Amino acid sequence: MNANKRERMSHASGVGQQPLIAIRSAIAAAPNAQSAMRQAVQLLKDAMPHYTWVGIYLIEGNELVLGPFLGKPSPHTRIPLGRGICGAAATEKATIVVDDVNADPRYLACSIETRSEIVVPIMDGTTVLGEIDIDSDQPAAFGAADRALLEQVAGLLAEALSDS
Ligand code: SME
Repeated sequence: MNANKRERMSHASGVGQQPLIAIRSAIAAAPNAQSAMRQAVQLLKDAMPHYTWVGIYLIEGNELVLGPFLGKPSPHTRIPLGRGICGAAATEKATIVVDDVNADPRYLACSIETRSEIVVPIMDGTTVLGEIDIDSDQPAAFGAADRALLEQVAGLLAEALSDS
């Protein structure tokens, strides 16, 4: 299925709003930022079958450090800000969607099955606190509905992280 078709179907079935409602409640009830991040990762992974690997990186100095994740263990537990799609999203302070990871020279491979990726910065104002990183085994898996959902989740996580 191509990205446009998936997006039309997502809108039609209301996918996107339901996980957001559940994630908002879970983050609001979480006792701390670590728990908020863990629950957001779990709820995203459960609700979105095309999200093969879901993780959160947090900024520590000049590196992104892997926090909660679900999926195969990644060799990239610390990523310098200048490297990878993750490093690019943090440096550019913008969401990056890569429809074909094998065609992107920035890509740091986590699994050979991965075909596409979305990275969404978690921003407190103009400061990057971290990012949500999602890989899919499907090519071009991420459309506007995924971007909208994940940017809203990133906003909720930014509040949880800056409150702690
Ligand atoms: N693909 C990422 C590295 C992280 S793994 O996908 C978990 C990147 O290119 O920055």
